[in-house]
Amino acid sequence: MTRDVGDSGDFRISRSSDRSILNGCYDFFDPMSISVRSFAKINIGLKIGPRRDDGFHELRTIYQTIALADVVKVDVGRGVGIDVCCKDPRVPAGESNTCFRMAERVLRAFKTRSKVRITVEKKLPVQGGLGAASSNAVATMLGLEKALKRELPPGERLRLAAEVGSDVPLFLIGGTVLGTGRGEQVYPLEDLPSFHCVIATPEVGVSTPAAFEDWDTKFAAAQKLTDHDGSDRMSVFSHSIFEWLSGSSFSPTGVPSKGWDRAEAMLLDLVRTGIENDFESVVFPKHPAIREVKRALERSGARYVSLSGSGSTVYALFGDKQDAARTAKSLVDKGIPAHATVTLPRSSYWKAIFGEKIG
Ligand code: C5P
Repeated sequence: MTRDVGDSGDFRISRSSDRSILNGCYDFFDPMSISVRSFAKINIGLKIGPRRDDGFHELRTIYQTIALADVVKVDVGRGVGIDVCCKDPRVPAGESNTCFRMAERVLRAFKTRSKVRITVEKKLPVQGGLGAASSNAVATMLGLEKALKRELPPGERLRLAAEVGSDVPLFLIGGTVLGTGRGEQVYPLEDLPSFHCVIATPEVGVSTPAAFEDWDTKFAAAQKLTDHDGSDRMSVFSHSIFEWLSGSSFSPTGVPSKGWDRAEAMLLDLVRTGIENDFESVVFPKHPAIREVKRALERSGARYVSLSGSGSTVYALFGDKQDAARTAKSLVDKGIPAHATVTLPRSSYWKAIFGEKIG
């Protein structure tokens, strides 16, 4: 017997033959499952500070949610245990899965015992610098709250999110978000207008911890040469962000003008600030194929091009929808996985999480 569990049409579970593929997630629960869209993010600028005593690095970044998403389905039934099911073998099934860790914490916070099944329909790249696993964790939290008909207080949500990972909390805000601390301290910024963008993810595996280590090595060498402790780097970044967000794309009355004209003006201002992602300086030398994708995007007429997180995703922001669509197609024709999409402001993010379709 085979039943659909996804709306993509190609995700099927067979009770008899597919057990091994799906980590034993063949037991069907109440058909009332909660579906949550789990959107991706990009980083607009990322400054890495010194390694802290807890082993993490101090960060400054702007996170921006985008309209590409996985779908996370949450079922709650009688019994105990957490199962994570995903057709993509690169997504771990057990305790290392961010959805598993989030579900564990939410059940503990509610002091309840249930059987929880989480099904992840993967559309976002795994370990691509788009925060997919972190976003899946927040989708699990929201889905589980809905399934259990209970809500965690906002502070508790944030605390659990930060425990699961540094870039999990941003997905509790959505839109344009300032990230500080190890990336887990998040502040909603005034939403940027929606930009057209291309997301290109060359099939190169980049390890985030390794990228941070490479940064440490590079930074230590630079320190020796300049005898500079680098403490001003973070404030320079903060100043650039401040300049950008209070720049000329806002009218003298302080009221931002509307629509694509404003988006275009903000993109130009962004280029002028020279905001960059520090990971580029260690990831590109190690993976020249990623740098090549950045160059191809720069040649395509994009206003701003950058690595997202530690990669391998490179994104490009455009003022024009057709330019974005044409660029994505030309990358796909060259064998590089790419999508044209838009950045997702906060109100659209929250509307689309459970309901409204976008695009
Ligand atoms: O918090 P998260 O699980 O995403 O971090 C993964 C790894 O990335 C950490 O174990 C750490 O090695 C590194 N990291 C870091 N500084 C940060 C965030 C992550 O060194 N701000």
